[in-house]
Amino acid sequence: MSAAQGKAKKLVAGIKSLIKSTARKIKPASSIQLPLVAARKAGTKITPAMLQKSAKAHLWMHFTRHSTFDTKDMPIIARASGHHIFDVNGNKYFDGLSGLFSVNAGHGRVRYAEAASKQMQELDFFPLWSFAHPRAIELAERLLSYAPKNLNRVFFTTGGGEAVETAWKIAKQFFKMTGKPTKHKVISRHVAYHGTSQGALSITGIPAMKKMFEPLVPSTFRIPNTNWYRAPGQFKTEEEFALWAANRAEEMILFEDPDTVAALYAEPIQNSGGCFTAPPIYWQRLREICDKYDVLLVADETITGYGRAGTMFACEKYGIVPDMMVTAKGITSSYQPLGALIITERLFEPFKTGTNILAHGYTFAAHPVACAVALENLDVFDEEDLVGNVARNSAKFRKTLEKLYDLPIVGNVRGDGYFFAIELVKDKATKQTFSPPEAEKLLRGYLASAMLKEGLYARADDRGNPVIQLAPPLTIGPKEFDELEQMLRRVLTPAMKKF
Ligand SMILES: Cc1ncc(COP(=O)(O)O)c(C=O)c1O
Repeated sequence: MSAAQGKAKKLVAGIKSLIKSTARKIKPASSIQLPLVAARKAGTKITPAMLQKSAKAHLWMHFTRHSTFDTKDMPIIARASGHHIFDVNGNKYFDGLSGLFSVNAGHGRVRYAEAASKQMQELDFFPLWSFAHPRAIELAERLLSYAPKNLNRVFFTTGGGEAVETAWKIAKQFFKMTGKPTKHKVISRHVAYHGTSQGALSITGIPAMKKMFEPLVPSTFRIPNTNWYRAPGQFKTEEEFALWAANRAEEMILFEDPDTVAALYAEPIQNSGGCFTAPPIYWQRLREICDKYDVLLVADETITGYGRAGTMFACEKYGIVPDMMVTAKGITSSYQPLGALIITERLFEPFKTGTNILAHGYTFAAHPVACAVALENLDVFDEEDLVGNVARNSAKFRKTLEKLYDLPIVGNVRGDGYFFAIELVKDKATKQTFSPPEAEKLLRGYLASAMLKEGLYARADDRGNPVIQLAPPLTIGPKEFDELEQMLRRVLTPAMKKF
């Protein structure tokens, strides 16, 4: 045997022994305890304790610190009705976040289930690949009846991040097909969240969220957001600050070279950081800049769409003229997963001819059941005037939350529609914020569980400065605003004593 053959034989033997020892360590499926599977088979009751144990053993939660559950139970939400959710132990919570900024019409609407059932019996599933189906066609037209009038084409996805991703691919291909092949870069804003897939995450402006997944898709760049509460002191008015912030887009485009910049993404109300709004002049200026350098303006309405801001789309409220509008969440009030990217015909033009296609799509996008539920949801919006409810009551909601200003920890109440953030500060006079360890103690050590104990599900977030965020169902009114204020007061009054 040659030396090389001997070496190879040794290597194979090594691999065989490794496989053997690994196989010994992996438990065969039959020895893993699977009591929920057994209970379902036997038709016996699954108890909350069984769910708790199984969840801790097998479920990988999203954006969740699992170590928390070493000492605490996992909250398990079992049912919902109106603006309330109930856990498996029967505890009731005010859904101050509409699930995830998304159950806009409120929970438990039986007619959505009936619409889904009817659709499943008629056409359970068919993809949108080369074949269309009636509900997708109907829904696309229905969306255009509410959308900014310059938009005319709908590309369905299963959620917001996929629509963000799709918009970037369309932008890149559009410019390649229209003689500007070097345009590919994207500009977005500090601390903005646009999704988790690698393209959408690259556009996201939260470094801590990206760190573990670098290198991401290259060619994205950040400009300042419109956090007026923490704007530099030289600005006398919000408009003045907003114009400065918009002009940073021009600066970035020029710096990166206009021939390389394809799109600018911005949420009408930026969620991450805590509900940053901007006056119409900001959006006018962004439009001017985008027109000047042929950069596509992508309005990410994943949260603000479908009534959240007091108009069907926030673009209408702030006079935003987008080239593409990302929508999701509230489109079905989250009874079904669906997203819709709504686009100008100009961007579709080059795809109309010859062998050209957009080689992009998702199996479940425009799922017939999701489209049927979306249509039912929009019927409810119209019949109950949910958007009008928000428009009529938003100022009252803000005023009620502003009562919390008498607490030393409440630095700023901001937002619009039914979408508000309360920024928590260490010193109201100087706007001094909490250090990262203090914020950790405040948010995860206290607020998260204190709110639940109080019967409130809302978001305590520190992707920017610490905030509590509210985005309740669009069905609520002044009585519920008072209830929310009282719950927050009880939670926030002792909060300062923790420092
Ligand atoms: C502004 C914005 N864009 C994109 C996304 C991603 O949406 P999804 O989780 O449906 O992919 C979100 C999610 O909250 C969002 O708020």
